[in-house]
Amino acid sequence: MPQPREQRPSEPSSSWAPAAEEPPYDPSFDEPPFDPYYDQLPPPDEAYPSAPYDEAPRPQRQRGEAWSTERSAPTGRPPRAAVAAGESAVAVLQRVWGYEAFRGEQQAIIEQVAAGGDALVLMPTGGGKSLCYQVPALLREGTGVVVSPLIALMQDQVDALEALGVRAAFLNSTQAPDERRRVEQALLDGEIDLLYLAPERMGVPATQQLLDRAAIALFAIDEAHCVSQWGHDFRPDYLQLGAIAQRWPGIPRIALTATATAATRDEIVERLHLEQAERFVSSFDRPNIQYRIEAKAEPRAQLLRLIQQEHPGDAGIVYCLSRKSVEQTAEHLVKHGVPALPYHAGLDAGVRARNQARFLREDGLVMVATIAFGMGIDKPDVRFVAHLDLPKSVEGYYQETGRAGRDGLPSTAWLAYGLQDVVQQRRMIDQSEGTPQYKRSLSAHLDAMLALCETVQCRRGQLLRYFGEDAPQRCGNCDTCLNPPESLDGTVPAQKLLSTVYRLQSERGQRFGAGQLVDILLGKETERIRSNRHDQLSTYGIGTELAEAEWRGVVRQLLAQGLLAVSSDGYGTLGLTEASRGVLAGEREVHLRREAARPAKAAKRKAAVDLPEEDLPLFERLREWRSGVAREQGVPAYIVFGDATLRGIASARPSSLDELGTVSGVGAKKLDTYGAAVLEVVAG
Ligand SMILES: Nc1ncnc2c1ncn2[C@@H]1O[C@H](COP(=O)(O)OP(=O)(O)OP(=O)(O)O)[C@@H](O)[C@H]1O
Ligand SMILES: [Mg+2]
Ligand SMILES: [Zn+2]
Repeated sequence: MPQPREQRPSEPSSSWAPAAEEPPYDPSFDEPPFDPYYDQLPPPDEAYPSAPYDEAPRPQRQRGEAWSTERSAPTGRPPRAAVAAGESAVAVLQRVWGYEAFRGEQQAIIEQVAAGGDALVLMPTGGGKSLCYQVPALLREGTGVVVSPLIALMQDQVDALEALGVRAAFLNSTQAPDERRRVEQALLDGEIDLLYLAPERMGVPATQQLLDRAAIALFAIDEAHCVSQWGHDFRPDYLQLGAIAQRWPGIPRIALTATATAATRDEIVERLHLEQAERFVSSFDRPNIQYRIEAKAEPRAQLLRLIQQEHPGDAGIVYCLSRKSVEQTAEHLVKHGVPALPYHAGLDAGVRARNQARFLREDGLVMVATIAFGMGIDKPDVRFVAHLDLPKSVEGYYQETGRAGRDGLPSTAWLAYGLQDVVQQRRMIDQSEGTPQYKRSLSAHLDAMLALCETVQCRRGQLLRYFGEDAPQRCGNCDTCLNPPESLDGTVPAQKLLSTVYRLQSERGQRFGAGQLVDILLGKETERIRSNRHDQLSTYGIGTELAEAEWRGVVRQLLAQGLLAVSSDGYGTLGLTEASRGVLAGEREVHLRREAARPAKAAKRKAAVDLPEEDLPLFERLREWRSGVAREQGVPAYIVFGDATLRGIASARPSSLDELGTVSGVGAKKLDTYGAAVLEVVAG
């Protein structure tokens, strides 16, 4: 008769909880049905009182219904370009933005679109995609229409352009009818250079008829990966945007995304009918971001150390998997003097919007959030992105970490990951609903993420190669390059551990979680060891050469390598795999990375802005001045000037408007608006 399996439903998970104060995991992940964007949009049937010329009451449009490609007769005024004839793209860049030169492929992209061609642009987060449609919109006659997914961010986008002297506007449900009518009239009068619309708004017939009557310079489709039904940013209304090509043939279209995978790229081309578009694929490297992944011991204490030692006073984003963990982490930070705000799907929409606005507007706030937060956030001075839980895919991880350092200044991407993450995620996949194919795909994504965590090679190299890019062996700005990890012949420890699992199973018919396995190997005398008579196992106490944390590292790495498996019993107990047999039989070697007793500190504390000591006081004074101005005008600080620009001013110490005008990021309009005040701050 088979022995009954011994299980302790209430306990196993507690044995691998990372720390005593760590609460049990909350599985209320932010998955659909919550959609962070839709709930800020009007319901699809909301009437859109659209100007006097929207004559007859129109039939209500169903979401997803194909829209008409028939164009109504144009009646707008003759178009004119926003800039003087003959002004070159680079002259516009220098005059309006105050930037010296284009970056990477920007110039080529702008030339393509300005000349009337279509473009598909793949550039990393913060790579400078916006200029690729903004400059051509100024160079060409008529208005550049920008389809952008987040109406909550449109006001800031428009404010930023207006601060540069560009005539920008948006049409969305946050506006009063009068305001919309004013914008519509300005559009028809040729007085708008850039018009922002949500994809849902594009799909409304009245909007299309309005655009028919206006002079359009180009269509830009930002965050174009939202067409991908497999991605987590999917927006059904993006699928309709392919019809732009038919309704407005001859008007150039440019689609932009920071999503790097080839599959997404192909989907964009197909859905948006961009077969003829020239493709511009930039390197996805973000050299200013330092990638670091460390073992999770006491995650909140580790996070606090990171912030206090390396990023005091800096803005940052902390990603957690569950809502509860978001709340608790934010509270923990606040308790320790770090100003932090929570953001997750369970919060009231008003609270979410308020927290997001504060994060964008105030200096030095930390946003603790689920992955529901972040798309389209263009705050340039996010100095760190921390993950307290393992992301589900390298794609997601890269997009989230990419929100750090959009201004090009040194920034940190930091991830704490532990045994519990692997167990948790394997179990989630196991229990998820879906076809075997879907589960396999989830597993493959998790494996790639684990491989990144456990690598002894350069992290950046591994990331870039994952996205199909060549990369040097060492980047010099990731943890494995800065503090090369020791590798360890793990064959013997692996055998000891696997043999414990094997014996428990074959001799006792038992399965246990990592905590008990490690206790057995270390020969601990706990109640649980005694009551189970685990001190009589032949592997009891044979593992004292490694410390507890090191053993946990061994378990984690064996799990990551598929040499150990999480059982499907739902309790996180561990079992052998096909591959474990080879290790037990001595036919297979195991290489592990040695677990640091204490995670290595960063090479050195980097000043957030990398300024020489003597320029720091001026930089701080400029920041203070900027906060005041931003508050007064109710705009995010970076709309006044970015950190990179303030840094430039602090080191140039200009004494005249002409000198100030040569600093990168000081264009004609800003020189005009703020020049005198800045010179006063510099003069002290
Ligand atoms: N040629 C340039 N010279 C100096 N700064 C630039 C240049 N091009 C872009 N930037 C700056 O780089 C930052 C990021 O640009 P942008 O917002 O266009 O990024 P993005 O590619 O759209 O990123 P995301 O994927 O996050 O939307 C901005 O602060 C922008 O002003
Ligand atoms: Mg962008
Ligand atoms: Zn490296």
